[in-house]
Amino acid sequence: MTESLNIGIPQRVLALRSIFSSNRAYRQFEERFRYLLERRRAEIAAGVVAEARCIALIGASGSGKTTAARHLFAVQPDLVLEEPETPRMEVASLPVPTPATLKFVGQTTLTALGFPLRRERTAQTIWDMVKDHLAARQTLFLHYDEAQDLSAHQTPKELTSVVNTLKSLMQHPVWPVGLILTGTAELKTIINHDAQLARRVYPIEFPRLDLVLDAERVRQLLCLYSRRADMTPCNEVGTTEFAARLIHAGAREFGLLIELVIAALEEAMLSGAETLEILHFTRMFGKRAGCIDGLNPFVAGDFERIDTRKLLNHGECDVQ
Ligand SMILES: Nc1ncnc2c1ncn2[C@@H]1O[C@H](COP(=O)(O)OP(=O)(O)OP(=O)(O)O)[C@@H](O)[C@H]1O
Ligand SMILES: [Mg+2]
Repeated sequence: MTESLNIGIPQRVLALRSIFSSNRAYRQFEERFRYLLERRRAEIAAGVVAEARCIALIGASGSGKTTAARHLFAVQPDLVLEEPETPRMEVASLPVPTPATLKFVGQTTLTALGFPLRRERTAQTIWDMVKDHLAARQTLFLHYDEAQDLSAHQTPKELTSVVNTLKSLMQHPVWPVGLILTGTAELKTIINHDAQLARRVYPIEFPRLDLVLDAERVRQLLCLYSRRADMTPCNEVGTTEFAARLIHAGAREFGLLIELVIAALEEAMLSGAETLEILHFTRMFGKRAGCIDGLNPFVAGDFERIDTRKLLNHGECDVQ
């Protein structure tokens, strides 16, 4: 392999990473968000104050929650995320900090709104300030990523305070704020902790991929990413059986699967190939998971028995 062959590979890979692939859960997420956004805009225009609502996007690690939320906010043409000449920040988005005490979550939310705390305050005062600043910045939605952490290591009493605080944001008498919570299945514990909260939540789940039902969609994705990489997938890569292996290799999660497709294309580029072959997937997975062929889902006969998530984590294949 000559060095000149490698020129432009990082750029080509970057271009692949910038593709956003939609799916049913994302479309549902966007539709619900648009509905709530338009409803809120209509209420503001009419001078009406009504309770806001919450969307909870739930999925396993690597399903694509963080990517979905980022993309959703970024592509709404009428949403003001930052406007240098005004204080408007219609969506404030932040990961739940650790430790997720009521006070620290409040403090981090204030920082995200552009008002870092300079003095020690009580949790109550901090959240009062959060509510004031949400109104001052005309924030319509507050997004917490990794929202399952809101319940981590909490006593039932602390969890109740968190839930009550979240409800009070949506029920604010002057400036109600909608919530977007993205997180893993444990997020359901928080939602179901309180019937009043549950009633205000619209849940959307990223289902795990199905080896058979999602095979066609995966084949289409493979074609799309290959085309964008100027690569032709060989016939074996286009089979239903290969799609099943790929789905399983990505722990049956949408985002992880796309990560593996991009990594295999990178492997093909690095070897100077013009055709994407099974060999590229095998090598790529072997490198990532540091596993023998018997544990490689692109080689093993009984690939469904392999715990690919464990292998990828063990191989420190980070999901960014
Ligand atoms: N819709 C998508 N289109 C293209 N790539 C995606 C999409 N969704 C996710 N990915 C890719 O999959 C990987 C994992 O996605 P993401 O980090 O959003 O998952 P997550 O559900 O937030 O996981 P975690 O719970 O571990 O934070 C990322 O590298 C991302 O680029
Ligand atoms: Mg995430």
